[in-house]
Amino acid sequence: MTRHADPPAESPAPAPRRPLEPLPITINGKPYFHDGDPAMPLLWFLRDMLRLTGTKYGCGIGACGACTVLVDGKVARACMLPMSAAAHHTITTIEGLEGDALHPVQQAWIEEDVAQCGYCQAGQIMAAVELLQRKPKPGDDDVAAIGNLCRCGTYPRIRRAIARASELMRSGKK
Ligand code: FES
Ligand code: FES
Repeated sequence: MTRHADPPAESPAPAPRRPLEPLPITINGKPYFHDGDPAMPLLWFLRDMLRLTGTKYGCGIGACGACTVLVDGKVARACMLPMSAAAHHTITTIEGLEGDALHPVQQAWIEEDVAQCGYCQAGQIMAAVELLQRKPKPGDDDVAAIGNLCRCGTYPRIRRAIARASELMRSGKK
């Protein structure tokens, strides 16, 4: 005798998707909300949503530093930071450095004529700003530890510019 299987239980209707909770974030002193994918990297939000294109996309894997921004004053790779982690924090990009005058690091960068192609330079400047906030008179090891890459090899000029920015900041000229 053939036994009939029980009829399959009706699969439950899929639960309706809850709308995403907007994520608040402060960028260069202005409040924003992100109501899209919380896994989206901060770099996309900066460049594609806000058109803050000073922060660059290089490797996309946290290795080159072209996307360096400050999160609550500390360096972070915007290509690796999901919006869910960046939310509720204060972000500073290269566009947010300048007030009425250039930031001393920007001033020193100009004086030392650091940039070559320029692609890595926003990230280099942001990393230098964070270093000088932490260590007003950094040593060679501190500068070397920044780790941002420059394919044009501007490292000697970066070192000189950081030393010059340190002077400007400590003398209060800027
Ligand atoms: S683009 Fe983010 S570290 Fe290279
Ligand atoms: S100035 Fe060209 S990559 Fe750094």
